[in-house]
Amino acid sequence: MPFRAIEDPSKLRRVLEATLLIESNLELPEVLRHVVEEAQSLTGARYGALGVLDEEKQALSDFITVGLTEEQEGGIGPLPTGRGVLGLLIADPKPLRITEIGNHPDSYGFPPNHPPMTSFLGVPIKVRDEVYGNLYLADKVGWSEFTHDDEALVGALSLAAGIAIENARLHDRVRRSAVYEDRDRMARDLHDTVIQRLFALGLTLQGMAARSPTATADQLGGAVAEIDLVIAQVRSTIYELGMGDASRGIRDDVTGLTRELRPVVGCEIDVMFAGPLDSSINEQVREHLLATIREALTNVGKHAHAAHASVSVAADESCCRLTVTDDGVGITRAPAASGGLGLANLRRRAEKLHGTFAAEGVPGGGTQLTWTVPLGS
Ligand SMILES: Nc1ncnc2c1ncn2[C@@H]1O[C@H](COP(=O)(O)OP(=O)(O)OP(=O)(O)O)[C@@H](O)[C@H]1O
Ligand SMILES: [Mg+2]
Repeated sequence: MPFRAIEDPSKLRRVLEATLLIESNLELPEVLRHVVEEAQSLTGARYGALGVLDEEKQALSDFITVGLTEEQEGGIGPLPTGRGVLGLLIADPKPLRITEIGNHPDSYGFPPNHPPMTSFLGVPIKVRDEVYGNLYLADKVGWSEFTHDDEALVGALSLAAGIAIENARLHDRVRRSAVYEDRDRMARDLHDTVIQRLFALGLTLQGMAARSPTATADQLGGAVAEIDLVIAQVRSTIYELGMGDASRGIRDDVTGLTRELRPVVGCEIDVMFAGPLDSSINEQVREHLLATIREALTNVGKHAHAAHASVSVAADESCCRLTVTDDGVGITRAPAASGGLGLANLRRRAEKLHGTFAAEGVPGGGTQLTWTVPLGS
């Protein structure tokens, strides 16, 4: 995706925050409204809108606007169906910047009572090849047209919107699915996984904001690749959960996971194994174990400021014990007070398997998580 350097890191932070909203408990329309409000405010546009495409991808099924008064909105009449300049973006989903909408050859003109609009920026909401809708902005206040920076920022926001829409549709599919018996568990896994992958994306964007403006383009590219991974992960969580991958052993899974999380954790991670893991750990425990390691290591990256972390998985016929240790700042406040969900989820995962969980400071500094579940009963 052709991103250019963004001059103002605070703008990237706001894009990051909008992206992180996807993992919140907000309903999809609220997330999308937030995205379009941010796009409007970051670009200094008088008007903003977000159109969601219907399943056939031919017309808009939903249209969220900002900047119009209620009276203006009421006066315009029915929602646009996606013809004219808006239709152009549907037919050919590429960013579009126009200085004067009315002069564009595809313009149909505005309906009666529509406020006049001049400059225009439209960006498709697209995740990989799937187009979900479009983000539109009109009238850059004090400027004759929208800039390259505007296009890049709105491009990043549209990715956030795309993930939010895809995520909501996947959740819907999970809810409707009759294939899986334990839908709550599925949804929780999906949520946990999405959260942590998005967090990795957040870190990428954050790092990008902190660096020199000229380096931004490549880093944004990396963030986009990360978003792709998020989607792949969500898909495989849904379609493969419960089926597992018998060809890979626990050691491969854990090593692969720590390698993947290395950039998020930001320090060296030792991995240790003991005992007959593959013969003792069944599919259900494996799944919870991997999710627990993911959360524990993400926490090290987020909170610990550690120089070193270690993951140890040990099993015998009767129990599996996971220990994740770091030499960082230690848990300084009661986890419950942090508003975070991660540790509570780990406890629930352990309890579901009739096991135990503890997160405690280590004498001399650092944190140790111990997650133990019985096996073989
Ligand atoms: N390895 C660690 N080192 C230092 N503090 C930690 C560590 N792990 C957790 N904490 C502290 O415990 C709190 C609770 O962690 P928890 O994972 O539940 O929430 P979170 O990471 O803040 O948010 P979430 O997991 O929902 O994204 C954190 O906010 C942090 O203050
Ligand atoms: Mg956490």
